[in-house]
Amino acid sequence: PSNGLARTPPMGWSSWNKFAEAIDDKTVREIADALVRSGLRDAGYVYVNIDDGWQGERGADGVLRPNAKFPDMKALADYVHARGLKLGIYSSPGPKSCAGYTGSYGHVEQDARTWADWGIDYLKYDLCSGEGFYHTAETVKATYQQMGAALAAAQSATGRPIVYSLCEYGRFDVGAWGRDVGGNLWRTTGDIEDSYASMSAIGFDKNGVPRHTGPGGWNDPDMLEVGNGGMSVEEYRTHISLWAMMAAPLLMGNDVRAMTRETLALLGNAEVIAVDQDPLGRQGLPVLKRDGTEVWTRPLADGSVAVALFNRTDAPVTLSADWPALGLGDHPRVRDLWAHRSVAPGTAQTVPAHGVVMVRATR
Ligand code: DGJ
Repeated sequence: PSNGLARTPPMGWSSWNKFAEAIDDKTVREIADALVRSGLRDAGYVYVNIDDGWQGERGADGVLRPNAKFPDMKALADYVHARGLKLGIYSSPGPKSCAGYTGSYGHVEQDARTWADWGIDYLKYDLCSGEGFYHTAETVKATYQQMGAALAAAQSATGRPIVYSLCEYGRFDVGAWGRDVGGNLWRTTGDIEDSYASMSAIGFDKNGVPRHTGPGGWNDPDMLEVGNGGMSVEEYRTHISLWAMMAAPLLMGNDVRAMTRETLALLGNAEVIAVDQDPLGRQGLPVLKRDGTEVWTRPLADGSVAVALFNRTDAPVTLSADWPALGLGDHPRVRDLWAHRSVAPGTAQTVPAHGVVMVRATR
């Protein structure tokens, strides 16, 4: 059952990495305004996702109510929609969420219907608590299947399609069955942290099985930390370049109300976003690893190829990609997507420590 959504990797913002539980209605509205004002909405970042921490208690009718920080979810959805954006929400299949809020256990169909009625456009379903029930591939798949079916039923009843994000940390071979249960993206890893060690460990090595990714369903190496302060500009450039090469969802995790110009330039680079959002939806791969450097390529829909030269070492290196050896002998036109200029194919490039040079090679 496909909801027809996420033909390219979802883009937007999520509350967790920066705000964790300190999120409320006012902040979400301000974030929505900031996405419009900064131009990031128009660059493609349309989902505004409330992560863990919005849930209150159930009423006598079993309907899950938001907590006091979110007085009226439907009004909030209207506010977000009026700005050309979409609203996302979060739950867990167990009795409790990861942060200890009410989960969907025993109320799966009811919750899906509640969210659809509010106008919710995206659900992240996070496998917390209930470990007692969900410790085999069969039970985990069944629980995600149940919510997938509930979202499909809610869509039939209300006309509201909801992007379905599976968050179970890449266990139980999720990529192999994520699509079958209606999933549009599935995490390939545990939580990212705002450090080069964490980001690079995920980005270079925990990106799921590439053939599982494609229009409608994506490997999800977790949300962005760009702009949160724990990495250098070059390291954040590597972060977003890796995610774009992998066709990963781009969910910003910073406070977009107060960004530096540098952060905005990293997140808003239209040429890099175009690689991430390429309609072919093929995940890029490392094709060469040597002495702490990696060359990645990603084929794109128009026959061009994205090429990224990564330097994982602590000192600058000069790298010269061998165009014919990469199969790019017939792709002589090369554009540097961060410097925004043409370069000669195979030119030696100085790549900063922990940095990247990313180009698009065209026939
Ligand atoms: C674990 C997830 O991986 C995080 O992204 C976040 O959703 C937290 N749970 C919320 O409790």
